[in-house]
Amino acid sequence: MKNIFLLKNLIILVIYCPLLTAISCSDPEESVRITSPNGKLAIQLKESKGNLYYCAEKEGNPILVDSRLGFTLSGGEAIMNNLEIVRSDSADLDETWEQPWGESRLVRNNYRELKVFLQEKSGLKRSLYIVFRVFDDGFGFRYEFPVQPNLKKFQIARENTEFRFAAPLKAWWIPAYKEVYYESLARYSRIAEMDTVCTPLTLETGDGRFLAIHEANLTNYAKMNLYPTDSLTLSTDLTPWSNGVKVYAETPCVTPWRTMIIAENINELVTSNIMLNLNEPSRIADLSWIRPGKYIGIWWSIHLGKYTWCSGERHGATTANTKAYIDFAAASGFSGVLAEGWNVGWDGDWTKNGETLDFTKAYPDFDIQLITDYAASKGVELIGHHETAGMATHYENQLDSAYTYYQKYNVHVVKTGYVNPRLNNKEFHDGQYAVNHYRKVVETAAKYHIMIDNHEPVMPTGIQRTWPNLMTQEAVRGQEYDAWSPDGGNPPDHTTIVPFLRCLAGPTDFTPGTFNFENPSMPNTRVRTTLAKQLALYVVIYSPLQMASDAPENYKGVKAFDFIKSVPVSWEKTLVPDARIGDYAIFARKNRNSENWFMGCITDENARELNINLSFLDKGATYIARIYSDGEDADWNSNPNSMIYQETEVNSSKIIPVTLAPGGGCAIELVKKK
Ligand code: NOJ
Repeated sequence: MKNIFLLKNLIILVIYCPLLTAISCSDPEESVRITSPNGKLAIQLKESKGNLYYCAEKEGNPILVDSRLGFTLSGGEAIMNNLEIVRSDSADLDETWEQPWGESRLVRNNYRELKVFLQEKSGLKRSLYIVFRVFDDGFGFRYEFPVQPNLKKFQIARENTEFRFAAPLKAWWIPAYKEVYYESLARYSRIAEMDTVCTPLTLETGDGRFLAIHEANLTNYAKMNLYPTDSLTLSTDLTPWSNGVKVYAETPCVTPWRTMIIAENINELVTSNIMLNLNEPSRIADLSWIRPGKYIGIWWSIHLGKYTWCSGERHGATTANTKAYIDFAAASGFSGVLAEGWNVGWDGDWTKNGETLDFTKAYPDFDIQLITDYAASKGVELIGHHETAGMATHYENQLDSAYTYYQKYNVHVVKTGYVNPRLNNKEFHDGQYAVNHYRKVVETAAKYHIMIDNHEPVMPTGIQRTWPNLMTQEAVRGQEYDAWSPDGGNPPDHTTIVPFLRCLAGPTDFTPGTFNFENPSMPNTRVRTTLAKQLALYVVIYSPLQMASDAPENYKGVKAFDFIKSVPVSWEKTLVPDARIGDYAIFARKNRNSENWFMGCITDENARELNINLSFLDKGATYIARIYSDGEDADWNSNPNSMIYQETEVNSSKIIPVTLAPGGGCAIELVKKK
């Protein structure tokens, strides 16, 4: 693992502009403008009658028009209706940095920046700065409140940021507030028909191009949600504290970046690095302990009701069970074994008794010393589990002792969980309180060399660049719904939307890997995919910690398991050769540690013939394609296990035709011949 470092072309050019660049804006407006490095994307900031607006256009075509900026502070004391532009600075950057793990190794960070200094014209003469960074594939901006005599501690009642589109677009979205933990099925509608929605929000222009709104570096602030104020405009709604305040702030402070990807095609949408680039470089100098990996767990069988989290006859996390899982992980080349329900406090209704959960006390039938010694002898590590039932303060009080305990037992990954619609029975999972809680956990974990897999989190915003021990997060209606959801489980099209919506926010702990599709506890609920699609999901949905979620006995002797054993969890680069949101997706990713590529193709409920173009392979080279595809009679509903395995030689001019079954998929490993 290499440290994150700057590789080339670090050019920072700061030009102080005492005079504003006048654009064709009529009196009394003042405006400043900046373009992307390739000159195609332009952002303009305007002041009119003391109010601020911004616009975005690409190659002369408007994308956003006269969209409001600014704040209302508590007490209705607006800060933004009396502002003037004092001056502006610009700067350029072109650097390339390396990720310790991720969907691509190298990340180019190339933007032009405009910083606009604003001040109230009269009265308290308070200052506010707005910084725009414009990339070739989109832009981000944030507000800065500098130190000043008349603004110290303050409360934000409303952020007035708007996105006013030039045309009435259709979008993919999930609702804010209504369903818990972002575990929703996506909706598709025009802006006017939207609810209050979460970001990422993905908009289709109708001509094959995409826009996606999200945020980067959500720190000490509340999550941004959006709601339509008319058929073209989305306004900001910050998740409030339980007392209604949106954000408690103190100068100097900055907001998260508001980001928009402007993608010419679906490949650009998925591979944009704007969010990562708008986060700070790693604060962890020694990254040697941060290792992506694959794991199995005493988990799916609990969700199916065979085992329990609590103690008793069917307790899952016993010493004997965990040792058997360790044997299987070692034989499969996996790095970890998760054991849920290992600690005392689960008995009774654990979702209501979070304050009895003790993270330094194992159940008597879970001999953690013996288990972790055994794991070490097999080259495997125990993956820790801290289900807090949402009692964040109770967890914070135990953080140091809980991580000291795990450190003693050589545990380097902890899955955290917050099953409770409100943290401490009070605060939203994505208000300022929650944002600060989750960050405290990640920063404390780093001190103990612990990586985090966070369930029921705030929506990710690229913090893993700064804290690369924040490996993966849930914030998705994951595969667990296929074990117990009364609606029958995730419909087959769900995973053809998730990669273009939730996954834009970063690594996603979806937990694919079901090989046994029967669900004795809820026969009407099942994993609605074929076996080949389960494999393809390891490529399509990125996570640096990937679980093989089924029980070991269901993997034994099954050819398909070879793909899970060989699929990497960190990539040199990622491409999306073809996809249509809600219908199908083809992903190609190159292994970081070899010349081999892996592909995942998935479809919705419809059978589909796809031609897989391999033009991304090295010209002149030959590859062995190991193809795991749906059998002729495969069908998610009636025959999910029907799968065909084939090997064939291919090169970059080859097209592989595949037939996907209803709810089906195809997984391919492309091994470069020496
Ligand atoms: C919900 C999580 O998503 C799931 O993975 C976990 O098993 C349970 N909570 C219990 O912590």
